[in-house]
Amino acid sequence: MTDQSLIILGASGDLTARLLLPGLGALLAAGHVPGLQLIGAATEDWDDARWRSRVSDSFGFSWDKTRYIQADVTKADDLRAVLAAADGPPAIFFALPPAVTARACSVLLDVDLPPGTRLVLEKPFGTSSQAAAELNSLLTRLVPEKQIHRVDHFLGKSTVLNILGLRFANRIFEPLLTSTHVASVDIVFDEDLALENRAGYYDHAGALADMIQSHLLQILGLLTMEPPTSLDAGELRDRLADVLRATHIWEGNPAAFSRRARYTAGSLQGRQLPGYAQEPGVDPSRNTETLAEVVLAVDTWRWAGVPFRLRSGKAIGDSRKEAVITFRCPPRVPDGLTGYDEHDRLRIGFGPDKLALDFNINGPGDPFVLDQVTLEAGFGPGDLPPYGEVLRGVFDNDPTLSIRADVAEQCWRIVEPVTAAWADGKVPLLEYPAGSTGLTDSLLKP
Ligand code: BG6
Repeated sequence: MTDQSLIILGASGDLTARLLLPGLGALLAAGHVPGLQLIGAATEDWDDARWRSRVSDSFGFSWDKTRYIQADVTKADDLRAVLAAADGPPAIFFALPPAVTARACSVLLDVDLPPGTRLVLEKPFGTSSQAAAELNSLLTRLVPEKQIHRVDHFLGKSTVLNILGLRFANRIFEPLLTSTHVASVDIVFDEDLALENRAGYYDHAGALADMIQSHLLQILGLLTMEPPTSLDAGELRDRLADVLRATHIWEGNPAAFSRRARYTAGSLQGRQLPGYAQEPGVDPSRNTETLAEVVLAVDTWRWAGVPFRLRSGKAIGDSRKEAVITFRCPPRVPDGLTGYDEHDRLRIGFGPDKLALDFNINGPGDPFVLDQVTLEAGFGPGDLPPYGEVLRGVFDNDPTLSIRADVAEQCWRIVEPVTAAWADGKVPLLEYPAGSTGLTDSLLKP
């Protein structure tokens, strides 16, 4: 793998510095893409030296095989100049706000793209299923679908990918993952991060689009899909698409099975935070939620009747990132064995990365009184950070870890009834203090 070109549009932005360049640096440090030609482009009047110092800072080692081109991505001539600087067919990474990405893609219709060009897009892909379909049709006028990489960095997380090994490389778990044995599934990503100066993006997205519509639905897909026969891009993404097509809001009733809330002022790990509505750049009248919760049904033979609760909140004091599979009670506990009060649970932690199985045994003390014990396995991080893993797929021309067009559209279709119910005022916008545990766990129980 040599002589690859990566063009970053939006090179001066936060995403580039915080996630993209560190992922790329890890990939280079691991010996991938040795002949990489890196080109940064943005509207800022930077010179090569300033860009190189940003690249080296983010990589954590010095790197000067890169250049910077000042460009307005909504102008065809500027885009031509950037493309002309690339030696081979480039991968173009749009590290830009979604609306600017869409405009740049329209402008590219007038630009000759070298054969083999790959387009790499950040979420959110559109703002609705219709907008996503329009964006997808625009993209496929530029390059074939297999050269389009829609990035969901959760698919580059080793714990998320571990779901595949856990389910499909063991005899003991997979037979139990059906409605016969599973009572419910929770997929929770409660973060101690607050807005972190991202109002320009977040105030237009909110927790539902930022986390549930994207990352958490991918986790749900991996947990519920039928076994793929191989992990090639076609097979894996077919299985994901199958199961997401069967997924919808519980009982078709978003008013009853969704909640939204935003944080008020509070203290988070010793920091005093303003309420979301008072954060700089936020328009309180948009009623953007910082916590969203939905109950979904996966209406397949395997999963019908099992509720999937998905929740994500910001500024939560007790950060919790895990998928929890709660098993049904045993059909009968023998008379004489007492103290049964906990379901068995399989917990997949997404940070810290770990796997835990909670189950009942006779335990210590009185041998006829049950105790719950936990078998726990921690595992270290993957070789590459999530963005490094995703970029490896781009350089390898392997879209397995990227979101296919139809999957992106399905993910919007699943949350659209919720967005509509919220817009109609059918679900109140609740509040929780920053630093608290967010909403109580009791409301959304079908
Ligand atoms: C991003 C969201 O995609 O994922 C952020 O925009 C969120 O709001 C982040 O904090 C969580 O992912 P990670 O990998 O940083 O835990």
